[in-house]
Amino acid sequence: MKFLVVNGPNLNLLGTREPNIYGRQDYNALQKLVRDAAAEAGVEVEIFQSNHEGAIVDKIQAAMGDCDGIVINPAAYTHTSVAILDALKAVCLPAVEVHISDVSTREDFRQISYARLACVKTYMGLGFEGYRQAILFLKDYIEKQK
Ligand code: DQA
Repeated sequence: MKFLVVNGPNLNLLGTREPNIYGRQDYNALQKLVRDAAAEAGVEVEIFQSNHEGAIVDKIQAAMGDCDGIVINPAAYTHTSVAILDALKAVCLPAVEVHISDVSTREDFRQISYARLACVKTYMGLGFEGYRQAILFLKDYIEKQK
């Protein structure tokens, strides 16, 4: 089983970016957590980060036939991107949405998530741990579908 983990804009700046909201751990630490969680779940993982909406759409499309599920933190594109929503719908892969912060308690413009409409579950406000939970959940979810 293989998962694609997608991270959207500015997540490459974790550690220095608004540490009061996103913490002091950097993007390398997030990648390590994701790899460890994948090993724990017994799944292969590919990690992708981009600051560009079209690149994220291309990567989601490329997962079709290559991956069994997607974990995605679309970052700011969560709240704006119909293109990412449509890509997730188009590939028909189970997807889980992750946010490091608790977007439900933040600004009004963060209350809409387009990506969520194509996701089977959302984790928010758990910090990096949300990615681990998402990977474990997705493995379980896919196995139960069989
Ligand atoms: C985020 C929340 C988004 O609102 C924000 O634009 C991000 C990160 C999170 O992980 O908490 O860039 O997705």
